[in-house]
Amino acid sequence: MPSLWGNLLQASPDVPLQSVLRSSSQQAEEINHLTNYFFIAAAFILLVVAVLTFLALYKFSEKKNNTPSKPLSKKWEILTIGVPSLLVAVFLYLNIKTINKVEPAHGNTKPDVIITAHQWWWEATYPTSRVVTANEIHLPAGKQILLKLLSADVVHDWWIPQFGNKMDMVPGQANFLWVNIKQPGEYFGTCSEFCGAQHAHMRLKIIAQNETDYNNWLLQRQQPSTNVAFASGAQLFMQKTCGNCHRVNGTTAQGTIGPDLTHLASRKTLLAGLLENNIENLTNWIRDPQLIKPGAYMPDFHLDDTTVKSISLYLSSLK
Ligand code: CUA
Repeated sequence: MPSLWGNLLQASPDVPLQSVLRSSSQQAEEINHLTNYFFIAAAFILLVVAVLTFLALYKFSEKKNNTPSKPLSKKWEILTIGVPSLLVAVFLYLNIKTINKVEPAHGNTKPDVIITAHQWWWEATYPTSRVVTANEIHLPAGKQILLKLLSADVVHDWWIPQFGNKMDMVPGQANFLWVNIKQPGEYFGTCSEFCGAQHAHMRLKIIAQNETDYNNWLLQRQQPSTNVAFASGAQLFMQKTCGNCHRVNGTTAQGTIGPDLTHLASRKTLLAGLLENNIENLTNWIRDPQLIKPGAYMPDFHLDDTTVKSISLYLSSLK
């Protein structure tokens, strides 16, 4: 059934599938399990109501019988109140059971990754290794992990449909989410609460890896990416004050307002999934940010072409 639904929902092979019906985490499995019971109960209720409606239409039709109908017998009254009440009680129990499984209390557990939503991009911090990255978030698969969700500005909403539940990201408040991703792979989501002009371009990509690959990735990301081949670009990057907002580990650029650019070239996309990461898109973006992503907080610095190219070359070397 999941693949049938999945195929029906897949608009085009180029569009990454984002379906709640394809559960890829233990949490999503629990939720879908409960959803199945809801579907069965709803189908049963629909059937009973339809049958009773037709029976009533037949039994009390004018042609057949003109006498006024008698009040409902006690037996029917008990049944029509009792069965729905029982159903509500059963589903309340199943709901609480599922909530406890999906969102057990985290107590003093330290989060594995801290994710901060910004207008309009995602920041991921890995507390134990001090790695910081943006938009393409690596997580370990086959393991129960705890995410701490924060917001830097307005209310955003974390949602990877294949992982099940959503979670609001509220300024000034930390929310937590457990996730146990079943298989390594790529999973996609989008901010799920309207948060301003570029809400629809606040895409999320999760790269789930087995534990060895994940740990290797963290080790690589701990290294600063310095590239002497583009020293002029690096110099311009600082001169034009890019480093006031962006951080490049191992340099004096230590800004935290915009996305961390330390290993920018190792990401597949730019601007929270809006564009493919290549030198052409990067150049166009730096040349005129408001044309590419209107409303984004990166100002237009009116840089000349040579400067833009130099900075782009430098950034695209940050592997
Ligand atoms: Cu962030 Cu919508």
